[in-house]
Amino acid sequence: MPRAHYRRYDLSMSSTIRDPSTPNIEPASQDDIVAAAYVYQAAAEALSEQFRARNPWTNSAARAEDLQLAIRTLATLRASDDRSVIVARDQHEIIGLTAVQIQHPHAHIAFYFVHPTAQNRGVGRQLLDRIRDVIDQSGATVTTLASSRDPKAWQRYLRFGLYPGPPLLPFRAVNPSFPGTIPENRDLANRPITSNDLDTIAELDREVRGADRRERIGQWLAEGSVGSIVNERVSGAAIGYALVTMGPHHGQIGPVVSTSLEHFSYLLDLALYVAGTVPNPHKRPWRVDLSARNHLAIGTLLDAGFSAENLVNWFESDPIGKWDRYIFRDEDEL
Ligand SMILES: CC(C)(COP(=O)(O)OP(=O)(O)OC[C@H]1O[C@@H](n2cnc3c(N)ncnc32)[C@H](O)[C@@H]1OP(=O)(O)O)[C@@H](O)C(=O)NCCC(=O)NCCS
Repeated sequence: MPRAHYRRYDLSMSSTIRDPSTPNIEPASQDDIVAAAYVYQAAAEALSEQFRARNPWTNSAARAEDLQLAIRTLATLRASDDRSVIVARDQHEIIGLTAVQIQHPHAHIAFYFVHPTAQNRGVGRQLLDRIRDVIDQSGATVTTLASSRDPKAWQRYLRFGLYPGPPLLPFRAVNPSFPGTIPENRDLANRPITSNDLDTIAELDREVRGADRRERIGQWLAEGSVGSIVNERVSGAAIGYALVTMGPHHGQIGPVVSTSLEHFSYLLDLALYVAGTVPNPHKRPWRVDLSARNHLAIGTLLDAGFSAENLVNWFESDPIGKWDRYIFRDEDEL
């Protein structure tokens, strides 16, 4: 065992050691460096173990649920455009897939996977070549995606012409606190969203999100999402909207859309208020997914009891969306 390790053990036996909650914070001496490096390694190793433990596929119920969600998402993407899901087939077996959601002028690559036994043999390159044709033929001009931590994926995305951007921030809360009263702003009026608001929402999405997705909003409302639309009192102009959804496993806040930075915080407060009005809002945990470009949301979400679960790598061919005043529908659907 290295000397530094003994030193650390000896110190811990000393009666003068301080309570770890009130440590001395001081410059390191040359003699401290080896022990400090051991602390680094112990913490980094524990973190790696923790990530393994949090592997969401370790129990069969979670695996089954994740598979059902993937089947639903792929089927929805294919139903909207039968060229949007591409597979690689070897003999009769599917060994890879990619899928894209196109909402003009935006293409978001939602799936990109090659079976582990077939990776690193160029299958991924061929899949992306094909999805590029689909994107080009659609007329979409901006491509984005949220990436895994696989360097093979990064290599492919960089070769595709995508650039890393600010990451996504998935915020989670088991028992968030929601405002008990509806937020007030003397310049703004709000009312519940109905299916009659789809044109207005499409207009707001074009302006802030960079792409209209009227059909998806209509589906979400039909499936039980609720929300508010906000207008300026004097001009009557719509300046934003907020939707929340209580799903079978968690509640989701988003999209939240504000045409100006000035009114974003009001819209987020309104979204949190609406979340608190769904039946049994604390029955399930809540999620909020946003870009790290959205600085205004962070303080409000921390105060409401949310914490950042992760930082998800983001790639884009060009900027799209005013993400500083926007909250995504979820991690997969921007
Ligand atoms: C990402 C993935 C779809 C790529 O498919 P693939 O068939 O393995 O990819 P390819 O063989 O076409 O290309 C792999 C590239 O990574 C490179 N590569 C391999 N190992 C690498 C490493 N450790 N670091 C960096 N690059 C590496 C290869 O050289 C090749 O690049 P090149 O064509 O410039 O030489 C596949 O590896 C995969 O499913 N990974 C796990 C799931 C995942 O993370 N998916 C992405 C979700 S966003």
